[in-house]
Amino acid sequence: MAQQDDVFKKIVSHAKEYGFVFQSSEIYDGLAAVYDYGQNGVELKNNIKRYWWEAMTLLHENIVGIDSAIFMHPTIWKASGHVDAFNDPLIDNRDSKKRYRADVLIEEELAKIDDKIEKDVAKAAKRFGDSFDETLFRQTNPRVVERVKERDELHERFAKAMNDNNLDELRQIIIDREIVCPVSGTKNWTEVRQFNLMFRTEMGSTADGAMTVYLRPETAQGIFVNYLNVQKTGRMRIPFGIAQIGKAFRNEIIARQFIFRMREFEQMEMQFFVRPGEELKWFEYWKEWRLRWHKALGMGDRKYRYHDHDKLAHYANAATDIEFEMPFGFKEVEGIHSRTNFDLSQHEKFSGKNIKYFDPELNENYTPYVIETSIGVDRMFLSVLCSSYEEQKLEGGDTRVVLHLPAPLAPVKCAVMPLVKKDGLPEKARAIVDDLKFDFSTRYDEKDSIGKRYRRQDAIGTPFCITVDHQTLEDNTVTLRERDSMEQTRVNVDDLHRLIHDRVSLNSLLRKLA
Ligand code: GAP
Repeated sequence: MAQQDDVFKKIVSHAKEYGFVFQSSEIYDGLAAVYDYGQNGVELKNNIKRYWWEAMTLLHENIVGIDSAIFMHPTIWKASGHVDAFNDPLIDNRDSKKRYRADVLIEEELAKIDDKIEKDVAKAAKRFGDSFDETLFRQTNPRVVERVKERDELHERFAKAMNDNNLDELRQIIIDREIVCPVSGTKNWTEVRQFNLMFRTEMGSTADGAMTVYLRPETAQGIFVNYLNVQKTGRMRIPFGIAQIGKAFRNEIIARQFIFRMREFEQMEMQFFVRPGEELKWFEYWKEWRLRWHKALGMGDRKYRYHDHDKLAHYANAATDIEFEMPFGFKEVEGIHSRTNFDLSQHEKFSGKNIKYFDPELNENYTPYVIETSIGVDRMFLSVLCSSYEEQKLEGGDTRVVLHLPAPLAPVKCAVMPLVKKDGLPEKARAIVDDLKFDFSTRYDEKDSIGKRYRRQDAIGTPFCITVDHQTLEDNTVTLRERDSMEQTRVNVDDLHRLIHDRVSLNSLLRKLA
């Protein structure tokens, strides 16, 4: 674990050193859980968004996009339940004065038991070698059986307390399990209380009577309140979807792990409107399709898993998370929810407007059911960064830090370098840049030794380096160096476009999904 912490720290400082992510307001000592994206970060982020947007809107002819405002009528948040129920259960330690999410403390306790079970299994596997029967061991080893029972009982008690919104019981679990504050080491806990996560501000001058408005905590409600506008003006027929990318804001109390949990972040959400009764079929469809979108990036299938929810929100009839293995464990990157007709019914009730859909095939009006796919851009960014980072030992004792970014997401696709700064090589290199730059993000670099220049591009994940040397002037060939294998091949300048395009185009990624 300590080793993983070290790796994570290195990734965070690499992100800063190479212009991916900066602490917001850094020269004023920063603003907690708010981050800025630098020159390479914004390109990577835009490429992630483009991959999602095009996968949704180009590959599905029944999905269109919108861009709704961040400010919305405050009654929307009353209708959606966010004013009354978008809360975190918080608990304070009286000695350290630190505040924690009670549910997170208990989840960490559950993870500790799971860790112990996995350690027992790993130890036995090592001891018994090839003859090890893992299933039998898990079913019969007394210590493992006992721990599984302990975990299941705790889990059941926790899920019930969360479902019943029973804050006293959450506190009691913390007391019974003897959970201590990681800072003070004591069990001197306050009561658990609810804390609303929405940021508020005021619209209009106070003299006129200002209206309290909220910074949206999710983009989804902007889709719900526009669904009939889009359906009618776009002549959409059920089933159809509406996609949106935009900022969301949450006053997170426990802001940790870099850009994993932020107060200002970005979401990519799609609401898919279906006939009542068909929602679970579509839920399965989107669950499978979204995982396929992730896996197509080639970051390793074993890094993903589903986590089906035990605690369903009162409006949902199915929900799962797609989790990714970060250096600090498997964590939620995306949620897929079957939200029934809750949101649309609530908006119908609170607005007093009829927003039912007329189904021409059934010749009837109804409130559609909704499947939602909701992914955080920043978490996706973090998963890409973490899985790409490698400190590689090279032959001869040298090392390099390389980002094995999926090539279509890389901020820079190729760098063109004259071997020396004379003899007409810079002019030739510039001519190549001027040709490639219309299709690929291309950099020109002539500073330092060629080795150093390669390392700089490796560190930001540039898939290709093109070196122009004296031979180029004679036969119009260059060296094309591939980032991951570091293999160098001699190719004709006229072939560069095709060779690079094959690897870096978003198109090739999208085709894997079709
Ligand atoms: N409309 C549904 C919704 O907002 P959610 O599970 O609360 O569901 C969806 O959020 C996704 O948004 C999460 O899977 C995560 O990727 C991202 N997300 C949520 N809170 C976040 C935060 N504080 N910082 C960064 N990303 C966040």
